Order: sequence, then structure tokens, then C-alpha cells
Amino acid sequence: MTIIKAKKLTKKFFSPSPVEVLKGIDFEISYGESAAIIGKSGGGKSTLLHILGTLEKPCSGSLEICGQDVQATSLPELRNAHIGFIFQSCNLLESDTTIDNVLMPARIARKSTRIGSAAYNRALLILELVGLKDRALFPTKLLSGGEKQRVAIARALCNDPDLILADEPTGNLDSKQSQEIQSLLIGLSRDFHKTLIVVTHDKEFSSLCNQTWLLKDGILSC
Ligand SMILES: Nc1ncnc2c1ncn2[C@@H]1O[C@H](COP(=O)(O)OP(=O)(O)OP(=O)(O)O)[C@@H](O)[C@H]1O
Ligand SMILES: [Mg+2]
Repeated sequence: MTIIKAKKLTKKFFSPSPVEVLKGIDFEISYGESAAIIGKSGGGKSTLLHILGTLEKPCSGSLEICGQDVQATSLPELRNAHIGFIFQSCNLLESDTTIDNVLMPARIARKSTRIGSAAYNRALLILELVGLKDRALFPTKLLSGGEKQRVAIARALCNDPDLILADEPTGNLDSKQSQEIQSLLIGLSRDFHKTLIVVTHDKEFSSLCNQTWLLKDGILSC
């Protein structure tokens, strides 16, 4: 069953000078599958991932996520219920604790996040999954780069999304940390039936995904 169906997506930025980034993207992925998107720097990979995650609007084309047309639905709700986003830079609140960062999507969804609440206990379980339970009360600014990346992954999992979008999640890590993050994300897709779309320059990572797509000259091909 299809979770994302994109047809003829285009994106052009107009300021400070015009850049035509996406020139008609067709993309489809089913529940539980994993896909890597590769391509050269500046080619539009982050832009495409942001559009697939409803964080940016395309100029034209259609996009369905979880059977809902994104133009006819409440985007914050769709995003919060179904999508976990791991940004190219972690975008954590550095002076907040690890667990507070993980709980942010639950707060946005107006769930209770008090100690002992369902969301809090789930956040602890996720932190255990990413190997950071003992860092739950650390301010994230004290964590290493790889640990921050794992907090960003844990945060993306907070509301149990069907779809995980990850923008170069191993970009700033050494090879050991990078492999750990790769296995974690691939494992989530394989074992928990999450759909994973990952932008990566890492050939090993892309080879672990079910599909690899190349974004070149504004066109995506398999
Ligand atoms: N808000 C914006 N306004 C204007 N131009 C933009 C904007 N965002 C991105 N661009 C331009 O669009 C192009 C694609 O950017 P994008 O960040 O999607 O590339 P990328 O493939 O993710 O690159 P990298 O591999 O370096 O992360 C770039 O040339 C960039 O300068
Ligand atoms: Mg990018």
C-alpha cells in the first residue's frame, strides 16, 4: 500500500535570484519500504525532502501522504501524526535536556508529557532504543555529535510516525557512529515497518535501502 505518491512536483525559488530546483518529480513509496535519495550538493535533495515532509510547498504538482491530498488537509496534524523528520543539522534545543527534546512532538500534539505519562515513558523507551537512556536528563549541548544525531532520531520517533524522513543523518559522523545510525534507521524500517526516506552521500547506506533514487538536473530517477 502506497504511503507517498508525488506527481510532477516542481519547485523554483525566486529570491535573491531565480533557481529552478525541481522540474517534475514523480515518486512513490509503500508502507515499510526504505528509499535513499542521492545526488550532488545543491541539487535539491533537502528541498525535495522538505516538500515530501510538508515543511515546504511545491510550486506545482500533487502530493498524497497516507491517502490524504496535502492541499486538502490540515498539515500540522498530518505531520504530527504520521511524519518524523530528521534534519540535516539536528535542530535540537541545546539548553533543553535530551528527554525534553525527544518529547517536543508530543507537546506539539498537546499530549501530557509529565513524568510517568504515556508519552514520557515512551520517550524513555525510545532513548533506550537509541542507547541514550542514561543521558535523558543531560542538556543536549553536552552531548557528542553522534549522540545529538541519535536524540534527533529519537525525537522523530516520539509520536510513532509511519514515515521517517532523514536528511543526511550520518553526514557529520565518524564511520563507527555512522554505521550505528544506519543500522538503527534500517532496523526501524525492517523491524517496525516504518517507511524510511533518507538523503545520503554514503554508498553503503544507500545499498541497505530497498530503492535508490538519483536527483539530477531537477529530475528524480530510480
Ligand atoms: N529558501 C531558498 N531560497 C532560495 N534558494 C534556495 C532556498 N533553499 C534552497 N535554495 C537553493 O536551492 C538549491 C537546492 O538546495 P538544497 O538545499 O535542496 O540542496 P541539497 O541537494 O540538499 O544540497 P546539499 O547536498 O549540499 O545539502 C541550492 O542551489 C540552494 O541554493
Ligand atoms: Mg541538503
